[in-house]
Amino acid sequence: MKIQMVDMRRQYDEIRSKVEPKVLEVLESGYYIGGPELKAFEEKAAIYIGVKHAIGCANGTDALQIAMMALGIEPGDEIITTPFTFIATAETIKVLGAKSVFVDIDPETYNIDPEKIEAAITPKTKAIIPVHLYGQAADMDRINEVAKKHGLFVIEDNAQGFGAKYKGKMLGSLSAISTVSFYPAKNLGAAGDGGLMLTDCDELAAKARMIANHGQNERYKHRVVGVNSRLDAIQAAILGIKLDLLDKWNSDRRSAAERYKANLKDTTIIPFEHPDNYHIYHQFSIQVKRRDDLQKYLADFGIPSAIHYPIPLHLQHAFLDLELGKGSFPISEKVAEGIISLPIHPHITEAEIDFISDKIKEFYS
Ligand SMILES: Cc1ncc(COP(=O)(O)O)c(C=O)c1O
Repeated sequence: MKIQMVDMRRQYDEIRSKVEPKVLEVLESGYYIGGPELKAFEEKAAIYIGVKHAIGCANGTDALQIAMMALGIEPGDEIITTPFTFIATAETIKVLGAKSVFVDIDPETYNIDPEKIEAAITPKTKAIIPVHLYGQAADMDRINEVAKKHGLFVIEDNAQGFGAKYKGKMLGSLSAISTVSFYPAKNLGAAGDGGLMLTDCDELAAKARMIANHGQNERYKHRVVGVNSRLDAIQAAILGIKLDLLDKWNSDRRSAAERYKANLKDTTIIPFEHPDNYHIYHQFSIQVKRRDDLQKYLADFGIPSAIHYPIPLHLQHAFLDLELGKGSFPISEKVAEGIISLPIHPHITEAEIDFISDKIKEFYS
């Protein structure tokens, strides 16, 4: 038995009988860009999240960039976000000439600490980008409250939380516009890259769609400078099939997480699921002592693991210009030192979870 972080082969075995004829159908249709498959998936995704509009694009990074462009983010604007995330969240802010203003995280959920946001707001602040890290919601009521008070946009970076809930509401429906990544290993993943933006606002949806399509709203009439960012028809068709299975898959991830938690609660710091949240465990990340040694020990038994994320963004070379040294965001820095993600996916077996857990307990015994 070869344990995978995310077992794409087992997933494919489950969906093969539906995906293969569908892919052939798309190939035979001749519609590879846009067309009925994309439209059908966008409509299905919008209904699933409970918003009016879904706009496909090439990946979750583009989704963030286009969402910010649609909101009119410009050079010199400040965007508040978390330093404990994948680089795409802050990278896109910088690409647009805006500035990331980081705010430290809550030590239990690892999401941006809403109580620290207000102190980071300046006259240049335009938006807040919370990330629903590992598939668990940031505290959206508090974030939206602060945003409303100061007239700021909120963009949910929901790359990791598609299908998760906050107070019973779908993540991705709790802000002006939200963004999704369909990177293959995501809870809903394409067979390649893909992304999505979701919004209730007609005007924002139209702008995002226009920007993603070279800034044109009619063929060869370019109202603004945009980008070329498309969700391909084949990807949309595959995602449509997988979306039907997502709730079951997320529930299976939750069961796997519960088993890990029961096994590891006395040995490690297990993930905290806030009572307001329906966590979908995109990652099952624990905090441990001697993390790097543990990682090597597990690798010796064929157990893969990953670090999400080893260096908080304010300490990355790419953000040296922000002049934020070590100690700027102590909680993010501390979590980054001890966090490790274990294999989790809908097809992991109880035997695999127990084997991994036993090896971790053995390491600390
Ligand atoms: C929090 C977060 N934001 C944005 C992205 C970017 O998504 P993509 O890889 O589809 O560009 C990711 C992808 O891993 C992510 O985890």
